[in-house]
Amino acid sequence: MSIVVSIPGVDKTNWWIEQLQALLSNWTIRPIHDPGDVEAVTYAVVWKPATGAFLPFPNLKAIVSLGAGIDHVLADAELPRQVPIIRTVGTDLTQRMREYVALHVLRHHRDMPAISANQRERRWAQLVVPPATQRSVGVMGLGNLGGTAARTLASLGFETLGWSRTKREIDGVTTYAGQAEFADFLARCEILVCLLPLTEATMGILDADLFARLPRGASVINAGRGPHLVEDDLLDALESGQLSHATLDVFHVEPLPSEHPFWAHPAITVTPHIASLIDAPTGSRIVAANIERFETTGHVEDLANAERGY
Ligand SMILES: NC(=O)c1ccc[n+]([C@@H]2O[C@H](COP(=O)([O-])OP(=O)(O)OC[C@H]3O[C@@H](n4cnc5c(N)ncnc54)[C@H](OP(=O)(O)O)[C@@H]3O)[C@@H](O)[C@H]2O)c1
Repeated sequence: MSIVVSIPGVDKTNWWIEQLQALLSNWTIRPIHDPGDVEAVTYAVVWKPATGAFLPFPNLKAIVSLGAGIDHVLADAELPRQVPIIRTVGTDLTQRMREYVALHVLRHHRDMPAISANQRERRWAQLVVPPATQRSVGVMGLGNLGGTAARTLASLGFETLGWSRTKREIDGVTTYAGQAEFADFLARCEILVCLLPLTEATMGILDADLFARLPRGASVINAGRGPHLVEDDLLDALESGQLSHATLDVFHVEPLPSEHPFWAHPAITVTPHIASLIDAPTGSRIVAANIERFETTGHVEDLANAERGY
């Protein structure tokens, strides 16, 4: 009965092993590069695993993604496709994401980038914005994170819209589903929040065509995945004034290279993939509970659907 852990960075790996071991005392838990008896390994706990990382383990019962997304696992061309993938979600993760979304939506809504620029120029300019009830905010993706974010925005008084693949009902949120309703949704979003999973269907979805469908001067917040965004299209949309600002938490290449134009762009706010960062003490409780449940029942609520891609 053993578990291997694969996370970039030795310190992080050791931190997670220590936390997991305290909760799963009957298990042997080791780093993936030093697994001991490979036949005994039945679970792999991973974030951005290397290609072929799972091949040495013939008896894997499940792969545990240390995050809500599974794109980093599916990216492995040599992934054993029959092994179930368990996502790591929970109230700490959704709480963190609702804080991030509320913070940045309110920041756009209240024109904080312009107010901060004015402060740097010692300019006293009372910018007047409408109340939240007259501001429409759209959330793409209405799952664990997007659904919670949409509820939070509605509770703040925003006119809240949501879009998902299949129709969702959320109190206080006007919902849209699928390609057929996408344009109607976008036409109303003064602030757009992306909380989609990264799949073939959503890769590059934040592109020139989408930006052109938003009301002029809209702002965009991407806390999904970097490859949702076509970076040059964003720069063009900001340049033309079609978009006024973007807040980006996720990037094609992470860490964002120091020479990347986003760092110094006056209309882009960069945050380093911290919207809802899972820490070992919190995350290991969720992971340990999921492994124990899967071990006894063969099922957990947070099982991903690899065919669907999320
Ligand atoms: N920045 C961060 O710190 C951070 C942290 C955690 C997660 N994330 C990202 O957030 C993503 C969402 O997490 P979650 O737990 O909310 O996922 P989830 O529970 O699986 O929900 C995904 C939502 O996206 C919708 N969706 C999927 N494909 C779609 C498509 N082609 N068109 C329209 N809607 C589509 C789904 O529609 P249905 O409702 O119809 O299934 C669902 O509402 C993760 O995959 C990850 O990439 C980022």
